[in-house]
Amino acid sequence: MHPAQTTIAAVRWRELGPTVELIDQRQLPGELVLLRCTEPAQVIDAIRTLAVRGAPAIGVAAAYGIALGLCATGDIDRHVDALCDDFAATRPTAVNLFWAVAQMRDSVAHSAGLPTAQRHRRIVAAAHAIAVDDASCCAAMGRHGAALLPDRGGILTHCNTGSLATAGIGTALGVIRTAIADGKQLHVWIDETRPLLQGARLTAWECAQDGIAATLICDNMAGHALKTGRIAAAIVGADRIAANGDSANKIGTYPLAVLCAHHGVPLYIAAPTSTIDLQCPHGDAIPIEERAAQEVTHPLGVRFAADGVGVFNPAFDVAPASLIAAIITEEGVARPPFAVDLQAMVDRARLRRSAATAGAQAPQL
Ligand code: MRU
Repeated sequence: MHPAQTTIAAVRWRELGPTVELIDQRQLPGELVLLRCTEPAQVIDAIRTLAVRGAPAIGVAAAYGIALGLCATGDIDRHVDALCDDFAATRPTAVNLFWAVAQMRDSVAHSAGLPTAQRHRRIVAAAHAIAVDDASCCAAMGRHGAALLPDRGGILTHCNTGSLATAGIGTALGVIRTAIADGKQLHVWIDETRPLLQGARLTAWECAQDGIAATLICDNMAGHALKTGRIAAAIVGADRIAANGDSANKIGTYPLAVLCAHHGVPLYIAAPTSTIDLQCPHGDAIPIEERAAQEVTHPLGVRFAADGVGVFNPAFDVAPASLIAAIITEEGVARPPFAVDLQAMVDRARLRRSAATAGAQAPQL
């Protein structure tokens, strides 16, 4: 078995500057351009405008953006709340963002009383820990999830859930990468993912980079692909998973879930436990981001729609738990009814993370 790997880093911290370096995903697949952010406001703008996107990557970018802001001040305690609030206000749906911001607030609180330079190092280390944790979650999801995929056949995916969306090999795409590295003969079917085309622009690009056999379809072709037996399983990521397993993900996931159920094809969700929100009892309580009309009327800046037409542009929808075959996290595979498994996974992850933090902060003997 060969571990799946990636050379794509969506978000990087550079000590020099310091700088948060992002792949500008708005420019892909045309050009691989790096955005070098030296101010938190630039990272905030990058998150809002989807230069960096994908639930885990947003969390990592926010953590580094907060570190950037706090390393520039000697008065950390005066700035931390406003800075964290600014990052938390960037996008409402992906709970990884709020999770990462909370981790950063905690690390600031725990470093109180230390000399400023030491606090700065602790804060940067906390952001690194979020990135490292996400990369290892991706690898673990890959191991748990690969076993669920068939030995051969078509796998349908939606949006982009790869290295561009995480700090590692990806969530759903990470599972696919791992299954292929394990020797499974899979062909990836990529929904283009209207309106912002994360499937066509980003997932197709990642598959091409890795030599993964893939076919692009428009979102409205998924039904025909399923009906004609081309798809053995579907796997997607999530931006927020409610306590009952209802899973918010990129708009178009709900109809895909309905189609999969109709055709008896399993739909798997792959997401780290940082995507699970036990405070949300069910999907109706998940805030759904609505974005600018321009994204629908002018995809890639080209006018598609008649002037003056009304537009509804929700960026996410919710796949109900009843239509999900399994939820893969770094802690294992949750099966319906999901509530008990999800609670246990979150508890285990909390223990694992606090043991890792205690280890990292223990005095060196
Ligand atoms: O609006 P985006 O591009 O940030 O939405 C991304 C998605 O919906 C992904 O499917 C989700 O974040 C899971 S990615 C690991």
